[in-house]
Amino acid sequence: MKALILAGGFGTRLRPLTCTRPKLMFPVANRPLLDWVMEQLSKNGITTVILAVNYMADVFARYFGKSKYGMRILYSRETKPLGTGGPIKKAEPLLNEDEEPFFVLNGDILSTIDYRALSKAHLDSKARTTIALHEVEDPSRFGVVELNEENQILRFVEKPKSGEAPSHLINAGVYVLDHSVLDIIPDGKEVSIEREIFPILADNRELFGHKFGSLWVDIGKPHDYVLANKVMLDMIAAQNHIERGSKVSKKAKMIPPVAIAKGTVVEADAVVGPYASLGEGVVIKRGSRVENSVLFPHAWVDCSASIKNAIVGEGAIIGSWVKIETDCIVGDHAIIDNNVTLTCNVKVCPSKNVSESILQPSIVL
Ligand code: GTP
Repeated sequence: MKALILAGGFGTRLRPLTCTRPKLMFPVANRPLLDWVMEQLSKNGITTVILAVNYMADVFARYFGKSKYGMRILYSRETKPLGTGGPIKKAEPLLNEDEEPFFVLNGDILSTIDYRALSKAHLDSKARTTIALHEVEDPSRFGVVELNEENQILRFVEKPKSGEAPSHLINAGVYVLDHSVLDIIPDGKEVSIEREIFPILADNRELFGHKFGSLWVDIGKPHDYVLANKVMLDMIAAQNHIERGSKVSKKAKMIPPVAIAKGTVVEADAVVGPYASLGEGVVIKRGSRVENSVLFPHAWVDCSASIKNAIVGEGAIIGSWVKIETDCIVGDHAIIDNNVTLTCNVKVCPSKNVSESILQPSIVL
């Protein structure tokens, strides 16, 4: 079977880091998010992946080329945003080689969905579309379904108000579509598959759901991204992943799980982990702490700094005694001066210099 991956979004909620790279190329445990997704597809027997790209399309083509993990990779390039439905119609020529059902995935989801089981459920129910469903405690941020005993989706409610959700089963952003669904997606315009196509299929009783219980993280906001990194580190090992060519002092404390890329330096008395990913060439000077955070390649952290539940962009410089906390993002090549504290959702744009503490949500432009 083929899989079409929606990879063309702007990732506005993860700005400023998405100003310089697409969200799907963000490192998760030091590998691009989309790389994990691709590997999972190949393990599930997918032979062809179609990447529906728009924003920064060349970054994908350069990294993935024409094949990866034994799968053929094709590109469907858009020249304007087409939403979550339009890209499927746009890719029709690439899906026409055979008239088989195909998978569609939001590319910003980390999951261990059993694609084979999803495809079997689709064929068994003779649905026109089958949506992978995931159970969550608070469904108010998601598309929620009302399901009958035959797993038929009766209703589809996008982001219900609290107390108005028909269930706790949400659209996991992974579908199997019959080829004929292409006929009801309008051509050449932005279409939301969730709001415009699924309701038609539900009304016709052609939309089914398939519940799965495995791991699922949707990467939209900074908090979700840090969580995805945590979940992946948990999944790949309870031990540390320290690549060759990194220099970790014997006097540094590494609390598993962590991922340390090549060329990274961790000095004495530093504490790294749990749940820290340090990209290639990162430097952590003496006495600094990094916990539940992602540091992009070549970030440089001076002595006695503390980074917790945050993201630090490529080549950023963090001064000594700096504190960076809770969902803060430091953009690429930004400089945070000594003794500065950034807490609670502060976003620093690329190459900016911050010389005073900021203790409430704000954007440093
Ligand atoms: P935000 O701007 O922060 O909402 O992020 P986003 O652009 O990724 O949007 P969203 O999270 O709604 O997107 C879900 C999935 O659809 C992601 O994998 C996006 O890359 C993808 N996507 C969104 N819009 C488009 C589009 O116009 N074309 C393509 N090909 N993919 C898209």
